[in-house]
Amino acid sequence: MGRRRFFLIFCILAIFVFAAVQCTQVESKSKDSRGPAYAGSASCVSCHKDLSASALHNSHFNASKILSKPNSADSLGIPDGEFVFNEHTKMLVKNRADGLYQSALINGVDKKTEHTDLVFGAGNRAYTFAFWYGNQLMQMPLNYLTKEKQWVNSPGFPEEQIYFGRAIDMRCLECHGSFAEKKPVQSADFSVQEEYVKNSLIAGIDCERCHGPAAEHVNFHQENPKVKTANFMASYKKLALTQRVDVCGVCHSGTGIKALSSTFNFKPGDTLKTLPEYSAYRGEDPDIHGKQKQLLEASVCYKIGKAECVTCHDVHDNNKPSLAIYSAKCISCHQDPKHETLKLKDKAILAKNCVDCHMPIKESHAIAFQKSNSKEKIPYKLRTHRIAIYKDLVKGK
Ligand code: HEC
Ligand code: HEC
Ligand code: HEC
Ligand code: HEC
Ligand code: HEC
Ligand code: HEC
Ligand code: HEC
Repeated sequence: MGRRRFFLIFCILAIFVFAAVQCTQVESKSKDSRGPAYAGSASCVSCHKDLSASALHNSHFNASKILSKPNSADSLGIPDGEFVFNEHTKMLVKNRADGLYQSALINGVDKKTEHTDLVFGAGNRAYTFAFWYGNQLMQMPLNYLTKEKQWVNSPGFPEEQIYFGRAIDMRCLECHGSFAEKKPVQSADFSVQEEYVKNSLIAGIDCERCHGPAAEHVNFHQENPKVKTANFMASYKKLALTQRVDVCGVCHSGTGIKALSSTFNFKPGDTLKTLPEYSAYRGEDPDIHGKQKQLLEASVCYKIGKAECVTCHDVHDNNKPSLAIYSAKCISCHQDPKHETLKLKDKAILAKNCVDCHMPIKESHAIAFQKSNSKEKIPYKLRTHRIAIYKDLVKGK
């Protein structure tokens, strides 16, 4: 009898141990919300140390960030501020111990205060902020401009009143993040709404967002440390030119792509032609905001010279190259440009800046920021990627 009971207890224990092991295995395998094919960028560091050290701090990796309470106080070093709509209506922004808050004040009375839960932008020019409303992500009324050091009304928001009503859609995250999942949820009135699965969100553009799922690659190289050539990993260099440009173009073609499916699983080798409503360059002047691909495609340097994004940009770098460094890239293809009307002969001076004349700074027609207590708008300025001769630009000189 004793023996039988012992056996029974042993069996039960064995089942528990087995289940526990299974559970932890399942957990460690599905750590990445994209599923077991993904390893997560922390796992790349051991073998790609230098490259990770810079890439994990650059603008792509910081293109969005989660600021969860209670430890979001270290957030961004953005100052408190206010934005005046009119004599009755203003917004206040305040850093508190647990993060950054925006409050709506009508005639001095606090009508609504929200904690910043997510920030968009690495802060090169601007930040946009968002907060969780249940499982919906909503945009905060105010943006912050880092160069002008000003709080401004969000682009496209009403000029006269505070607006908390714009949902942050999946497209923002498809370009500024690595993953988010939405689920249809039935509400009390039986209508079906799409909601974010909060803990699925992977903010920032991580390694696998550009390189595709890499768990097999990681496993293989961990098990075969002597192998020095990459396995289970698409080689960027072996792709066709258009495929290489599309690796960037999936996010640098503007918001015109109305993809029926999300772009999260776009991986090296895929092409944008498969995405419906992708608008290629057709001779118009594309808006400079986010349309680097169409603009470059309109340049002779691309059409004849095959100059591509990575000719000029090292995407893992964390430094902002000077215009002289960019100009050296121009000179690698143009040793002796014919500047006849300009009589630009001093190569030493020229070498410092090809960019201002051939990739001038332009204003976006799509985005501008309203100033506090004013109807005036601060323009959003970027360099055009249509590398060309801009004669009108030089005439005045
Ligand atoms: C256990 C070691 C190991 C880990 C971990 C690892 N890799 Fe690699 N990876 C390699 C080796 C070895 C190569 C080939 C030599 C090289 O290019 O550095 C390689 C090459 C690559 C290449 C170049 C492929 C080519 O042919 O151009 C990419 C891209 C890459 N890895 C991405 C990643 C990403 C993303 C991660 C993390 C999710 C990762 N690796 C994690 C070992 C590793
Ligand atoms: C998943 C979307 C995505 C992909 C893929 C992507 N980018 Fe970006 N890129 C962005 C976003 C969003 C920003 C703006 C980041 C910010 O400042 O918040 C950006 C910024 C940049 C910048 C400016 C960085 C700076 O520090 O000023 C360069 C240059 C750039 N991308 C080049 C590339 C190139 C080259 C590729 C392809 C190899 C590429 N990107 C692929 C989304 C993407
Ligand atoms: C914005 C897209 C993007 C992101 C994010 C990105 N890579 Fe890359 N990676 C590229 C491109 C494009 C190349 C090819 C560069 C070339 O051929 O000039 C590349 C090349 C590589 C290579 C080949 C060796 C080399 O130096 O060219 C490795 C290894 C690699 N990436 C690992 C990583 C790891 C690890 C991360 C995350 C820390 C990461 N990448 C993040 C786009 C990206
Ligand atoms: C199609 C891809 C794409 C979509 C969709 C997109 N962005 Fe961007 N965003 C970019 C790129 C690329 C840049 C870099 C500069 C540029 O070209 O304007 C950028 C720049 C920014 C910046 C300035 C970053 C900085 O460092 O100064 C902010 C803030 C921003 N986006 C917020 C958003 C928000 C909020 C949404 C959704 C309403 C959104 N973006 C949708 C691609 C995108
Ligand atoms: C990979 C090589 C390559 C790179 C890099 C490159 N170009 Fe070009 N570019 C060409 C080729 C090829 C042509 C067409 C033949 C020519 O005019 O030399 C061209 C044409 C031009 C033209 C004439 C455009 C026209 O519409 O007639 C200008 C201006 C120019 N490039 C400036 C630049 C500047 C400035 C840079 C750097 C920001 C640059 N290029 C980078 C290859 C390149
Ligand atoms: C011939 C060189 C060249 C090529 C090719 C090139 N860029 Fe750039 N890119 C530049 C220069 C120069 C700047 C401005 C840097 C500055 O002002 O500090 C820039 C800036 C950017 C920025 C930041 C926005 C801004 O105006 O500051 C983004 C994003 C970007 N490039 C993306 C791309 C993408 C995506 C591709 C490929 C479709 C690409 N670039 C191809 C030279 C190039
Ligand atoms: C002050 C403005 C300015 C600067 C700086 C400048 N360019 Fe030009 N570039 C022009 C103009 C204007 C033309 C048209 C020809 C002319 O009027 O002389 C031109 C023409 C060109 C051409 C087409 C003619 C040819 O040789 O095929 C190329 C290529 C070119 N530039 C490249 C460069 C490069 C590379 C640099 C930097 C080393 C540079 N430019 C600096 C204004 C400038």
